Amino acid sequence: MERSTKGFSKTIKVNNITMSYDDVGEGKVPIIFLHGFPFDKSMWKNQVNYLKLAYRLISVDLRSFGKSSAGHKKLNIDLFSDDVIQLMDVLEIDKAILCGLSMGGYIALNTISRYPERFAGLILCDTNCIADSKKMKEHRYKTIYQIEAEGINDFAEEFIENAFRRDSFVLKREVVKKIEATILSNTKQVITEGLKALSKRRETCSALSSIKVPTLIICGRNDKITPVQQSEFLHRHIKNSELKIIERAAHLSNLEQPDVFNEHLLDFLMSHSEEFDKKKKNSK
Ligand code: MLT
Repeated sequence: MERSTKGFSKTIKVNNITMSYDDVGEGKVPIIFLHGFPFDKSMWKNQVNYLKLAYRLISVDLRSFGKSSAGHKKLNIDLFSDDVIQLMDVLEIDKAILCGLSMGGYIALNTISRYPERFAGLILCDTNCIADSKKMKEHRYKTIYQIEAEGINDFAEEFIENAFRRDSFVLKREVVKKIEATILSNTKQVITEGLKALSKRRETCSALSSIKVPTLIICGRNDKITPVQQSEFLHRHIKNSELKIIERAAHLSNLEQPDVFNEHLLDFLMSHSEEFDKKKKNSK
């Protein structure tokens, strides 16, 4: 009997790792969700629940994160991106809409610049196209040494402080606690290897003008990690793009303001539905 690849918590062999993913709902062009660092696919739960009656939604645990295995290669953005393409190949998906938040956005931009023919649309959330500055690289390596000496608790605390608005520590306590638990569920090694991968990533700003598909850019007004100006830059340089700034949200805008975030997603998907379907037909 053929094993179903659809449902929650599925596993699949991709690029010499076992990838854990959710694949739910039906739709002509699937939307693939890529989480930020150092999280997992559960960060998209709210979006998946909201859209699953009308769309096919695939959220993945990137290698080393969540329930996916690590493999033997050093983490890097090209490798994450190759995993996405191989997942599409194995699931026989010729075209998808790629949605990534922060590191997920770095991967989405890398992937679409290398494999433009595989995507019908792009959703970039709280992300940017730049490489790390010298100062940022130094900060990442200082953090790596600190984690190696003392563990990941201080890193998790600093990350949480920067990622959320102040009032979320009171008003959205459960969300903050869940993200903190996700960060703390990673090993020291995954965090330090992830930080190295982020610090080594290439810029993708020079490839923005070649993105031709409908693109939605979302950013929390109070994002300190990937500030609004960086999303404005993406919007200026991606021709067919629209920018939505979410008020009362910081870096994790899909978690801090899920209702507004979901409405933007749905509006974007509905307003381009004919275009997405046409792209799918043409690729047959
Ligand atoms: C993320 O949320 O993925 C990270 O904050 C990205 C980064 O540190 O550059």
